[in-house]
Formats: sequence, structure tokens, C-alpha cells
Amino acid sequence: MRAVLLTLAVLAALGLAGAVSVVGLGLYNVSAHAGHWPGVSWILHTTFRNSVRLRAPSMEDAPRLDDPDLIALGAGHYATACAGCHGAPGVARTATVRAMVPEPPLIGEAVESWRPNELHWIVENGVKMSGMPGWPVQGRGDEVWAVVAYLVSVRERMAPALPANDGAGVAYCRTCHEKIGGPVPRLDILDAEYLEAQLDLYASGARPGGIMAQAVSRVRKDDFGALARELAQGDAPVFARDAPRLDGGDGAALARRGNRDVPACLACHGDTGKGPALFGQSQDYLTTQLKLWRDGTYVHDNKMHAAARDLTDADIDALSRYFANSAE
Ligand code: HEC
Ligand code: HEC
Ligand code: HEC
Repeated sequence: MRAVLLTLAVLAALGLAGAVSVVGLGLYNVSAHAGHWPGVSWILHTTFRNSVRLRAPSMEDAPRLDDPDLIALGAGHYATACAGCHGAPGVARTATVRAMVPEPPLIGEAVESWRPNELHWIVENGVKMSGMPGWPVQGRGDEVWAVVAYLVSVRERMAPALPANDGAGVAYCRTCHEKIGGPVPRLDILDAEYLEAQLDLYASGARPGGIMAQAVSRVRKDDFGALARELAQGDAPVFARDAPRLDGGDGAALARRGNRDVPACLACHGDTGKGPALFGQSQDYLTTQLKLWRDGTYVHDNKMHAAARDLTDADIDALSRYFANSAE
């Protein structure tokens, strides 16, 4: 028994001495050129694969991944956030990126080995100690599906060309805001002051949004005001006025109904100007935003959070349909 204990103690001491020399004396070579010790790459990759499999979300949460608007939005984000490391059909990686260890795989190869929900997990969480970043904000897995939709289109060789994003002016903003519907909001129904405030909120993280956090990080803060003025409502008649009028229905009734604690939606979003314009906004976008307010992912306006807190999914559908399709 004593011999066993002694042997264990000696082994522990040797292990500790080994660890101290590797960590403390710098014996481990961190050079990217040195590669991993034999077997380490296999261990890391197998751990990575199994870790992703275990944690990937259920496909029940996924929107329709073949929706062209969702794919286009994912492509727009991918162009500035991912293509530099992973390339894209027709986009090469720099020699320096190819010297990374591990090397970011070409996207065409990367998507072959993962299911859509696994891709979602990787893009939302990133991969520790590899250079693969996570999503810029937490709690916005809903946005990540747009990138997954684009990745699936790459796998199916149906991917749209990436938008050219060389500039960082208003033309860059328009690659999404004037070309894609669905999840991308219209800005031309909103006023410049509101738009500028949103850009500040995205930049500070107070309004968590990874796609817009990436977009605002590519423009100078000093230019927020000018960008907002260019994109805000112009003199042209807004879409809402041409839209059919939905007077009846659950949405209209809900929008007019307040209670003791919270005023009606229209008390703020009608012509009082206390809240942003909603009439004529994209229905998909309204639905997503109302869920974010209701679920407390958004808390940057207390009254708006309170107004959404008790809405059911059916209420949100009805309200979104009403605001998207009616005129004031
Ligand atoms: C700074 C470079 C960098 C950026 C930017 C980057 N990645 Fe990665 N990515 C990597 C590296 C490195 C790996 C390899 C990780 C590993 O194998 O351990 C990786 C792995 C992946 C994988 C898993 C592929 C596999 O089988 O290893 C996917 C999918 C992926 N990235 C997608 C994306 C998407 C989508 C974006 C943009 C939202 C993105 N990446 C941004 C560096 C990057
Ligand atoms: C890759 C596509 C993409 C690009 C590029 C982009 N946006 Fe956005 N934008 C979005 C999406 C998607 C949302 C909704 C985000 C959310 O859920 O928070 C959004 C939201 C916004 C909002 C909030 C609107 C509202 O109703 O509250 C503003 C303001 C905005 N963008 C301005 C800009 C400006 C200015 C630029 C250029 C610097 C820009 N966007 C570039 C996709 C994009
Ligand atoms: C007390 C005033 C108030 C009430 C009541 C209110 N809202 Fe809001 N709402 C706001 C304000 C202010 C914002 C903008 C907050 C911010 O991002 O700065 C907002 C934002 C929104 C947005 C996001 C718009 C965008 O472009 O991103 C939606 C959608 C919305 N409200 C819908 C509703 C609905 C539906 C109701 C009724 C159930 C409602 N609101 C009730 C004040 C209100």
C-alpha cells in the first residue's frame, strides 16, 4: 500500500514538474509553424465535432432556409464578416489568412460536413482558441439563421454573388436596406433622428443586433448623422399610403386597445410621433422585433418592453399583419 502511494506521489510530482516546465519555462512552442504535437490535432477536432453535435439547436426553431430574402441577408453579412477568412465562390483568401493555424477552411469545404443546425451553433458560438469568432452579440440566434441560409445555398451551389462592399458609405447600407425585403426593415418610412439613435444603440450594444453591429463598426461614428439623413424618409410618398386599408381584424383592435398600465400601440405609433412609424414596415421584421421586445432581449425602452410583455404569438402575428398592410 505504501509503495502504491509513494509511486502515485512521485508520478504526481513528475506531472507537476512537467507542467511547470511547459507552462512556466516556455518549453511549449506556440509558433503557428510548429504545428500540434502528434495526436493533438485529432483530439481537438474530435472534441470540436462532438461538442457541436451535442449542443446544436433543434431545427424546429429554424425559419425557411430557402427564402431568397434570408439568403440575400446572410450573403450581405457574410461578405464583410466571413469572406476575408473563408473566401466564397469566386472570392480568394489572402496568403496571410492561409497561414493561420488552424487554417480557416474554404467555405465550400466547410459546409459539406455540417448539418444546418450545427452550422448555426458554430456561427453563433465560434470555436475557442482557433480564430473562429462567435456572433458579435448574445441572444440573437434568430439573426444567425440568415447566415445559415446562405451557407446552405453555398452547399447546394445556388449561392447568390456577394454584394460588393468596398465602400463604407450609404451605398453599403443600401446593399441591404434597398435591395432586400423580409427581415430587413425599410428605413424610408422613419425619421433621421430615430435612425441615428438606433445606430448609436447598435454601436453601444444597448440594442443587441449582430448584423447591424457589424455594419456600424464599418462606418465612422461621426458619419452616423449624415447616413441617417440620407436614408430617412424623403419627400416621396411612402408605401404605406398606397397600401390597402385594413380597418377590421384582430390587429386593428389590438392596436387601439390600451389598458391601465400601458397605452394603446397607436397612442405612440400613430401620428403622435412618440414611437417610430410602423405602417408599411416589413411584416417579417415587425414580427421579429415584437418578439425581441416581448421576450426581454430588448430592454432599451421600458415602455415599449411593457407594451409587448403580454402579447401572445397570435397577437404578434395579427399586429404585424395590420401595421405592414394598412395605411394610417
Ligand atoms: C478571423 C478568421 C475567421 C472569421 C472572420 C470567421 N471564421 Fe469561421 N473559422 C475560422 C477558423 C480558423 C476555423 C477552423 C476552426 C477549427 O477547425 O478548429 C473556422 C471554422 C468555421 C466553420 C466550421 C468549419 C469546419 O469544419 O471546421 C464554419 C461553418 C465557419 N467557420 C463559418 C464562419 C462564418 C459563417 C463566419 C462569419 C460569420 C466565419 N466563419 C468567420 C476562422 C474565421
Ligand atoms: C447585411 C445587411 C445590412 C447592412 C449592410 C446594413 N443593414 Fe441596417 N439592418 C439590417 C437588418 C437585418 C436590420 C434589423 C436588425 C435587428 O433585428 O436589430 C437592420 C436595422 C437597421 C436600423 C434600425 C431600423 C429600425 O426600424 O429600428 C437602422 C437605423 C439601420 N439598419 C441602418 C443601417 C445603416 C446606416 C447601414 C449602413 C452603415 C446599414 N443599416 C447597413 C441589415 C443591414
Ligand atoms: C408608450 C409608447 C409606446 C407604446 C404604447 C408602444 N410602443 Fe412600440 N415603441 C415605442 C418606442 C419609443 C419605440 C422605439 C424604441 C427604440 O428603439 O428607441 C418602439 C418600438 C417599436 C417597434 C420596433 C420598430 C422598429 O422600427 O424597429 C415595434 C415593432 C413596436 N414598437 C410595436 C408596438 C406595438 C405593436 C405596440 C402595441 C402592442 C407598441 N409598440 C406600443 C413606444 C411605444
